[in-house]
Amino acid sequence: MAIRDIIKSGDSALLKRSRPVTEFNDRLHILLDDMKETLLNSGGIGLAAVQVGVLRRAVIVMETNVPEDEEAKLIELINPEIIFEAGEQTGPEGCLSFPGECGIVTRPNHVRVRAQDRGGNFFEAVGEALTARCFCHEIDHLDGILFSERAEHMLAPEDLK
Ligand code: NI
Repeated sequence: MAIRDIIKSGDSALLKRSRPVTEFNDRLHILLDDMKETLLNSGGIGLAAVQVGVLRRAVIVMETNVPEDEEAKLIELINPEIIFEAGEQTGPEGCLSFPGECGIVTRPNHVRVRAQDRGGNFFEAVGEALTARCFCHEIDHLDGILFSERAEHMLAPEDLK
């Protein structure tokens, strides 16, 4: 596994639509393993393949809603689609491609996602609260949509302290 560089705002790749993953091979598995290591190293809770320069529909989301004695778990989602959403939450949101920046974004409070695992098998995952926000944020990346476009306003650095 290797830590990959995360591309930053201003890089036009972030505005592109990623293509579906069609081959569930070693190359994909290496990408996913590297994305996990990169995410764990970054201190963030979600990462899309485009953020490491690969325009394929794959994301890693950290499930943070776990009991206190359990470690947060990383979920790999290939070709993910939101199939149900409910409720609403408004709050601060950031992105590993926008270090030090934060915006106020409204997202659903509950989402159900259908995706494939690294073997190509379909499954569904449910996210609540922060995890729902993360699913939406990462899936937006696959369509070239950035949180700054969804933000009601961005917070100034002095608001973050
Ligand atoms: Ni992001």
